[in-house]
Amino acid sequence: MTDTTLVRDLERTGQDHIVQHLSKLEPSARARLERQLAEFDYDLVARLADIAGQDGPERSVSDFEPAPVLPLSRPPESVRAARQIGAEAIGAGTVAAFVVAGGQGSRLGYDGPKGCYRIGPISGKSLFQVHAEKTLAAARRHGAAIPFYVMTSRTNDAAIRSFFEQNDHFGLGGENVLLCPQRVLPAFDKAGRFILAAPDRVFVSPDGHGGAYHALLAGGALDDMARRGIEHISYVQVDNPLVPTIDPLFIGEHIRAESDMSSKVLEKREPMEKLGVFGYVDGELRVIEYSDMSDDLKRARRHDGSLKYRYGSIAVHVIDRQFARRMAEVDLPFHVARKRIPYVNTEGERIEPKEPNGRKVERFVFDAIPLARNPVVMEVSRADEFAPVKNAEGDDSPATCRAALMARDRRRLARAGIVAPDDVAVEISPLFDLNADHLAEAGLSDLSGRDRIYLE
Ligand code: UD1
Repeated sequence: MTDTTLVRDLERTGQDHIVQHLSKLEPSARARLERQLAEFDYDLVARLADIAGQDGPERSVSDFEPAPVLPLSRPPESVRAARQIGAEAIGAGTVAAFVVAGGQGSRLGYDGPKGCYRIGPISGKSLFQVHAEKTLAAARRHGAAIPFYVMTSRTNDAAIRSFFEQNDHFGLGGENVLLCPQRVLPAFDKAGRFILAAPDRVFVSPDGHGGAYHALLAGGALDDMARRGIEHISYVQVDNPLVPTIDPLFIGEHIRAESDMSSKVLEKREPMEKLGVFGYVDGELRVIEYSDMSDDLKRARRHDGSLKYRYGSIAVHVIDRQFARRMAEVDLPFHVARKRIPYVNTEGERIEPKEPNGRKVERFVFDAIPLARNPVVMEVSRADEFAPVKNAEGDDSPATCRAALMARDRRRLARAGIVAPDDVAVEISPLFDLNADHLAEAGLSDLSGRDRIYLE
């Protein structure tokens, strides 16, 4: 017999089909499903079922004023001063790196945590290794410890944990790496009912990167940061190996503005590029998701012919620790995404739907921005900072990302006086200190006959 409280919770939230299904299951399968069901918060389920059941686009935005942006070209003395402020904060040990890696990476079609995907063009280093080594290099450069926090989810936490252990935490030291799993939420059909992923399991998915605030709190990261004297959290997405995990200039602009939460943007490649846009809606600065803007709005131009919404978010932020702590308690909005979710029907057959049949609910990390003091929005260069791995092929794929990583390293070599021909593959480890002595040791004076340059 299923526990009566659970039955009541299921019935009051419209999950009668699950009550019936439970009664048909054999005892061990029933116990497994009951264990999972007992973990849900049914007041929240009632709310989410209602949100998921609503039809139509959740929030389509008409016209809005784009946010002011700190442009890429600004006075060099101002840039120098901000960079100095950032470098001092890093050197004083007040900055942590935070990589969000709880997503499912379904578009890439990679079977495993996305962070384990091998992206290094020559080395084959994983996304996690690249982020970890950039952080370690910054710690060495600034002479301070930089703790490394990773948001995982229930589905990939164990795999990520053993990946870091097997790889000796990529030199960061186990004591400096902390994984924080995010919560999962059930998905719903259009009538607001749970979807069975298997006869003994309801389909659940991570609660969106907006779950990061709660994950940092529940995973003990915010307490750990307070103990270490961390004030600023440098937030990056695991899918973008080009971005620095620790950027003195960005951190400096954030501190100088006394901001709670700052963001990086860049010029969109074309109006339809799938990037969120910063703007004022109802008097508040927020990110408007690409999916909430009509195509006409995305293409809108100013009188001078320039694109009105020309800057896109690359989802890179600096978030103050105390602000993150407050956001962990705030009820950020939920967003609904329509997805194809394989399920089992009442006969126990597995069905692969051809059309979106389910609705996932997620929170977004940037929904905290309207609550932030003095939010800074800073422009960065795409070539130096944005090469995400999202799709298996085409734009934003492993191929475009590797090409961008190689091009960046080729530019670094050129600045050091070594011009590699286009057909020579180039990769420089984040840990390689590109100074004249090290370059001389690398023996790059004669490149004839070489097809690759790898500096480790
Ligand atoms: C996201 C942003 C978009 C931005 C773009 C830049 C959203 C809704 N939109 O789009 O504004 O311009 O990145 O690349 O995020 N993640 C978790 N847990 C989750 C969900 C996601 O950790 O529950 C992590 C993923 O592992 C990944 C990142 O968040 O590192 C981005 O998620 P993804 O769903 O790929 O976002 P995009 O739609 O590409």
